[in-house]
Order: sequence, then structure tokens, then C-alpha cells
Amino acid sequence: MTAKKFYITTPLYYVNAKPHIGHAYTNVLCDAFSRFKRFQGQEVFFLTGTDEHGTKIEKIAREQGKEPVDFVDEMVPHFKKMWEVLDIRYDKFIRTTDEEHKKSVTAILQNLVKTGDIYQKTYSGWYCTPCESFWTELQLKEGKCPDCHREVQQLEEKNYFFKLSQHQAWLVKTIQEDKSFIQPEMRRNEILGFLREPLEDLCITRPKARLNWGIPFAPDPEFVVYVWFDALINYVSAIGYPENKTLFDALWPADVHMVGKDILRQHAVYWPIMLKAMGLGRPRTILAHGWWMMSGTKVSKSRGNAVDPLELVRKYSVDAFRYFLMNEVTLGSDGTFSEDLLAERYTTQLANDLGNLWFRYASMLDKYFGGLVPDVAPERLDATELYRRSLCLYEAAAAAVAVFDPRLALDKIFAVITLANQFVENQKPWALAKDPARKPDLELTLAVLGECNAHVACILQAFLPVCAKAMLERMGLPAWMPMVSNENFSKSFLRPGVRITRGEPLFPKLEDLKPQAE
Ligand code: MSP
Repeated sequence: MTAKKFYITTPLYYVNAKPHIGHAYTNVLCDAFSRFKRFQGQEVFFLTGTDEHGTKIEKIAREQGKEPVDFVDEMVPHFKKMWEVLDIRYDKFIRTTDEEHKKSVTAILQNLVKTGDIYQKTYSGWYCTPCESFWTELQLKEGKCPDCHREVQQLEEKNYFFKLSQHQAWLVKTIQEDKSFIQPEMRRNEILGFLREPLEDLCITRPKARLNWGIPFAPDPEFVVYVWFDALINYVSAIGYPENKTLFDALWPADVHMVGKDILRQHAVYWPIMLKAMGLGRPRTILAHGWWMMSGTKVSKSRGNAVDPLELVRKYSVDAFRYFLMNEVTLGSDGTFSEDLLAERYTTQLANDLGNLWFRYASMLDKYFGGLVPDVAPERLDATELYRRSLCLYEAAAAAVAVFDPRLALDKIFAVITLANQFVENQKPWALAKDPARKPDLELTLAVLGECNAHVACILQAFLPVCAKAMLERMGLPAWMPMVSNENFSKSFLRPGVRITRGEPLFPKLEDLKPQAE
């Protein structure tokens, strides 16, 4: 039997505004994990897409004098463009307006009505329009929505409900038994805390009279499907459930649903129960990241403090932007975005540490050996600490990725880069070059630096794909170098006599940077 493919998903983004740094963050994380798994020789399926139904979208379309269907068609290209600019290699882009998805939602709902998991009742309570959520009097905070703190309206209406409570005990037990199910631990505890109270059944329809822009609720034409119930189903509809199950069988259960901390409840409570009711297995891991903040508030379009990732990429390069997002915060915590900080990291870590290491190596190789890799006995390489440390990078990065910690992986890689720059200072190749008797030492120094650069480039493929590819190519190595095991990685990559091309600086000085054309 072939190994199951690694299936990773992002949330589906609401198309009411263009994507911002928070959305870019999720996709960059998923992309880095996907690339790392591919690098390790695993087959990957990476799903992203857009959430296009619901009151929020209908309202903004109407405000702009457009039909929702036209509005969403205009918005989706902004997301696709963003992923292209950020070099996000997804396998499928799903839209909740796709016919296939709508068919899947309809079939699933019809079945859940049949099994008795969905029933009708009259509900009266408070309703938050921006969150599309019902709240009881007790749940309100100072009379406002407990999630977004906005005004709520009193509502009384007939609707269809999905039974949650019958699977509550199962869910609690599952979360308690499998520590990797909901991560990080802080969020797992939050969900267990939420599950201490009895679950209220979930209202999964909206009357057509109030909301037209949704998937028709097939069992009763007076209603459309609640946007969250519609959207969550994408994770299975995108891979052919229930009609065309070949891909589904190869991919389900999902390995990782990456989400922001604000949408964890829908993913960690409603979604596993929906799957249970459908007779399907739960996802292996639901991973919640924190928020990007600016001036103490969450970055969001509606608050008007959004920074445009496209601008940042044009100014600093796609690798620099990706590096900043992954390196600045530990996955799970909130981070503060500031362009000054991005510029500082660019200069210190990317230009001065990594860029400089490459430049020094390639320039000295040119100067002392005409750009050709020197021939050095393997035992002499083995005896050098920097060489041994470079060969350990696979193990270190794989261990960090296995616990979803890209920041730790980058830390380990950059520690070797720092060590390599110190190695240059200590070895002083420029002094060795003056003494013909020390030629073997000069050869060893440059051979070690070459291997260090090659291994750094190889392991950076998942994190700084553009820079890694450039370095590999300049060293005459394949532009994509997967490594199925540590064994493949922990050996020399460069053949003696191969010519290395120095090329342009990998991360030019900021004052020399011309914004890149789109
Ligand atoms: N459409 C729903 C998700 C449905 S998934 C079946 C939704 N969309 S959203 O566009 O509002 O948010 C999508 C994701 O962006 C969420 O994971 C959210 O946490 C994330 N972010 C939005 N602002 C953010 C920051 N400022 N920082 C980090 N991520 C944030 O919710």
C-alpha cells in the first residue's frame, strides 16, 4: 500500500475584502509545511479557497450596487493573485459557489435530515449579523456580541438545527485522549473549557426572507444553509465527497486544518461532530495560530489598519516577507507587525548573515580557486565541527516541523549560518592564502564553507524557496532537491572541480533595492 498523502487545508477566506497579512500568514505556514513534506518525499494535497455566501457578502455587494454573484467573481482574483505573488503552491482552490461544492452540501444535509441529526424548531434570542451567530441573553457581554462586541438584534424565527449534544461526551474524550488533535495546548484547554458546559444545538439555516445569498436548503425551500455549515463542508467536498470518492479515500482524514484562533470553535467542536454524524473520521490535527496585531489591535480590513502584503513583497522580496512571518512569532502566539522590524530582520538576518555568508564563500572561491570546488579528503571534512553541524540540519528541521514549529526550524538553520560566519573569521582564509604551505587548510576551509552553503540551501527550500533555489543552481545542484531521509542529507553534496557561480547578492542592501516589478 502506498503511504497516505499529506492533506493540509487553510480556512476559506471571506471575500468581503482583499486578503491581508493575517490571511497571508496562514497560507505561508501551510505552504512551508507542504513544501517540507514534499521535500521529505511525501505526496501532499494542499487546499485553499474562498467563502462566498452569507449576509456579510450579500450586504457589501448590495452596498456597491452589485449582484452578490458578480461581486464574488470580482473578489476571487485578488486571492489568487496574492497566492501567486507569495509563491503559494496549492493543489486546489475551492469556492463555496462551485457547483460541485453546492451539490455536496445538499447531499450531506439531506442525509443528516434522514438520520434525524437535523430537525426544525422555533428559536428566539439575540442575533449578531456580522458574526452570523445566535446568542442567548446570558451569553451576551454588556448586551453586545461576546465575539465581536457589536450590537445584536432580537430575533424569533423557525429554523433547522443540527444536534450537537449527543456527541459531546465523545468529543471531550477524543480531545483528552489525543494531545495532537487540537494544538497548541493552550487552545486545546480553551476548547475543553468550552465543552464543560452543555452544547446548544447549532442553527444551520437562515430563512430566505432574510438571506437569499446561500445554498438552498433542499429539504425546505424556504431556507438557505448557514454559511459556516456550508463552508466547513469544503474540506470534504473539495476532494470529491460524497459523489466521487477516489481522491477522498486517498486523502481523508485531513492531516492538518490550519486555522486562526478566532475560528477554532467551529473547527474543533462543530466540524468533528458534523463528521461523526456523517460517519466520517475526524481530522488528525487542528492547528490554531495567533493574530497579527498593529498598534495593539488585530489587523483587519474593517479596522483600516491593514498592510498590503503585495507592497511588502515588492519592497523586500517574497522570501523576506515569508521569513518574517514564520520567524517573528512562535506558531500559536500573537505577533506585532511593524515594517521597521521587517526591515531590521531583512538587514541583520537575511542580508548580513545569510547573504553575506554566500557572498564571502563564492567570492573567496573565485579569488583563490577560480570558482572551482577544491578536492578535500572526506576525513578532513568530517573532523570539522561546522561540516558536522551542517549535516545535522535535516534532523533538526524535521523535528521542528513535526511539532509545527517553523520558527524553531529557522532558528536551528540560522544558528549554523552564524557559526559559519564565525568560522570564516576564525580561519581567516585571506591570511591562509598568503602562505603557500597552508594551501591544504585554505582548501579545507572553502570545502567546508561550500558544504555548509549547500546544506543550508537544501534545508531552506521549504522556508525561503526563491533564495534556496538560486543558491542550489549557483552550486550546480538540482533546482529542487528532495531528501527522503536524514541519510540522504548527511553527506557531501558538492563534487570537487565543479564551478560555483557567485551571482548577484541574494539579499541586496535595502538602500540598493529597487521595488520588484509585479
Ligand atoms: N470564512 C471563515 C472561515 C471558514 S473555514 C471553513 C472566516 N474567514 S475570514 O476571512 O474572516 O478569516 C480567515 C482566517 O484569517 C481565520 O483563520 C482568521 O483567524 C485569519 N485572520 C484574520 N485576521 C487575522 C490576523 N490579523 N492575524 C492572523 N490571522 C487572522 O473566518
